[in-house]
Formats: sequence, C-alpha cells, structure tokens
Amino acid sequence: MPSGVKGMSVFMDHRPIGVFDSGLGGLTAVRSLRRILPEEDLIYFGDTSRVPYGGRSRETILKYARQDVRFLRSFDLKAILIACGTVSTTSLPVLQAENDLPIVGVVEPTCRRAVAVTKNKRVGMIATLASVRSGNYDQTLRTLDPEIQVFSKPCPLFVPLVENGRFRPGDSVIETVAREYLEPMRDTGIDTLILGCTHYPLLAEIIGAVMGPEVTLVSAGEESAFELKRLLKASELRADESRQGDAAYYVSDRVENFEEIASWFLQEDLHHEANQIDIDRY
Ligand code: DGL
Repeated sequence: MPSGVKGMSVFMDHRPIGVFDSGLGGLTAVRSLRRILPEEDLIYFGDTSRVPYGGRSRETILKYARQDVRFLRSFDLKAILIACGTVSTTSLPVLQAENDLPIVGVVEPTCRRAVAVTKNKRVGMIATLASVRSGNYDQTLRTLDPEIQVFSKPCPLFVPLVENGRFRPGDSVIETVAREYLEPMRDTGIDTLILGCTHYPLLAEIIGAVMGPEVTLVSAGEESAFELKRLLKASELRADESRQGDAAYYVSDRVENFEEIASWFLQEDLHHEANQIDIDRY
C-alpha cells in the first residue's frame, strides 16, 4: 500500500513496478531502470517459453501480452513497463484500456528521442516483423515531425541469435546477418537508427560498426525508463529516493543458466535466481 503524508507532497509509494518482455531482452530496460530509478522495486517477467513473439499474429501477441499482464498483476503493482517493442507496437492501447494502472510502452519515448537527435530528418528503424508491420513507429515519428522520412526494416533473426548468445563482436554468424540486414539501411543516408526491439542493445557494437560513426543509435528500453520516471513523479507514485530497490525475476521456461544469460542483458553480474511460473494459468 502507498505510504506517506498526503497533502504535504511527501507521498511515497513502495509498491513494485512490473516489467515484461517476450524473453530476456527486456532486461536491457531493467538495466536502465536500475540506473534511472534505483530506489524502485521491480518484478520482471520474461515469457521464455514462447519467445520470440515477433513473427506471430497481432491476435496471438495480444493474447500472450494479456496473460503476461495478468501474471504481473497478481502482485500489487503501481505501474507496468512493457519492455518489448513487439507488444508495445501491437497491443499498448488495448492493455491500457483494460487496466486501471499506468502502463508505459517503448514506442513514443523512443520516437521522441529520435526526433530530437536527427539533423537530416532521415530516421531508420529496425525491429521485429510484427513491429514493422504495425507501422506504429513510423506513424509516431511522423506525428511528432511530419517532415521525417522513416526507413523501416524487420530483422527477424536478431532475437533468436541474441537469445542464443550470438551477439559478440567477432562472431561471424551475427556479423554476416547484421551486414545483410543493415547495409541497405546505411545506404539510405539516415543519421539516426532506432533499435526498436529491446534485444538489440546487445548488438549495438555490431550494428554501430556496420552503420558507421555518423549514425546515432537510439535504444527503446532506455528512453522508456526516463518516461516512467516522469510519469511516477507526476502521479506522486515514486518511492523514497534514499532507499535501494530490489528486483525479482520470473520466467515461463527453464531457469537453468538464468543468472548467466540475464547477466549479458543487464551487463553486470546478477545474483538472483529466477522463479519459473506456468503462464497458461493466467
Ligand atoms: N524484445 C522483444 C521486442 O522488443 C523481442 C520480440 C520477440 O520476441 O520477437 O520486440
């Protein structure tokens, strides 16, 4: 329950924030949240038994996302961050309409950042097939600035490769795939590239090497963490800044090696085990 002194603007809310993704890519957003909102408790759910979502239909993604939200809401949460480009682009308005707590997606904050960064108004966007098909990033960019030209491209092999540990510079498989996807994108003359899927920050070095130093990369998870901070502040839902928040991790498939794999995404050693849940029950 929220605690504090109402009417004296010392109202604090120590309920956790729920964060979810189709898999472990959303942990890149957790990494940003730990930095930007270190006082907050987080509950992360990665739907590892059904990842990737990106090649699935809009209906299936919405069905999965509803279950993910129902699981997270079995905790008393104050807000949810959808740390998944695919769910954000296809299902955000429905999930917001169905739930009586703030839900933040990754698209709008990321697009706002890209619009602020681009100088030549040529913006690239790479994401899963479902995200590109939805046209949601393109639409949002053009709403923010009608002069922006958007170049979108699905990169369906990136998520399975990253989830299988194939993201390190020098790995010839991921480097070949990245060149094939991104060389045509580089030739469009963009100066900003949105990494529209939360798995992609692990590939930032490889993507940056193909795109060249004149292209700025904008990551989906990071921008949405800032958005969540603004929202919590505006709604007086923030936790006491002097405390240290903790995180709990849940997945829907096997938990062996979770600490090792999660550490890649968090870019630090994780000393938390994951709990396995049966997502079909939700
Ligand atoms: N991290 C998810 C995203 O941001 C991966 C999607 C997938 O499961 O294909 O889109």
